[in-house]
Amino acid sequence: MIKISNLSKDYGSVQVLRNISLSFTDGTSVAITGPSGSGKSTLLHVIGTLEKPNSGRVEINNTDPFTLSEPELARYRNSVIGFVFQDHHLLPQYSVLENVLVPTFAFTQQPDATQRAQEILRRVGLSHRISHRPGELSGGERQRVAIARALINQPSILLCDEPTGNLDNATSDTIADLLFELHRTEQNLLIVVTHNLELASRFQQHIQLTDGICSIDNNS
Ligand SMILES: Nc1ncnc2c1ncn2[C@@H]1O[C@H](COP(=O)(O)OP(=O)(O)OP(=O)(O)O)[C@@H](O)[C@H]1O
Ligand SMILES: [Mg+2]
Repeated sequence: MIKISNLSKDYGSVQVLRNISLSFTDGTSVAITGPSGSGKSTLLHVIGTLEKPNSGRVEINNTDPFTLSEPELARYRNSVIGFVFQDHHLLPQYSVLENVLVPTFAFTQQPDATQRAQEILRRVGLSHRISHRPGELSGGERQRVAIARALINQPSILLCDEPTGNLDNATSDTIADLLFELHRTEQNLLIVVTHNLELASRFQQHIQLTDGICSIDNNS
């Protein structure tokens, strides 16, 4: 479903990803690990169509998203991809419920969106916090809101950049369990960047990045 061929990405003189080729099947789970600065977030941003590669090709469902016009790409990203950012990027002035609804405002009118947001928030265990603001939540709770927001448009691809990075062990286990449970029920392609090798071993596929070059382990 996602096919990456000979992908390279640099920022001026900083060469970040070097000639990477990878493919991910629908509905599987993938962990990406590697040292800080090895290009994990950059790779996730390219897969999420937020950053354009300098060379090489990305195909999602047999289409190169980077051939789309900006508005088409925005619409495509909004419907196909859910993104949980390294730093959750919640809007501080809005409530939990409103934050989860943000991706539904972009394009079509969705009369049942509020109901769906409430249902997703129930599934991530936050029904009792829907009118709170992000600043009134714990780190683990904020991460759950970010996950709920990423899932509101039922994306077939869920990308998470260190979703358990700033959490204590018990809370990160709970968030990881939640991601796997949602992955089972939603049957999405789940790609997670993590520093936690024990967590990485729970994924079907494990990509290790070193200086922008990758190697692959199949855990299963
Ligand atoms: N917008 C940018 N402009 C210039 N350089 C960048 C930009 N974004 C990332 N880089 C550089 O690219 C390299 C890879 O960054 P990236 O964020 O992908 O690493 P990472 O593996 O996610 O690291 P971490 O584990 O610390 O999050 C770093 O050297 C970084 O400084
Ligand atoms: Mg990163």
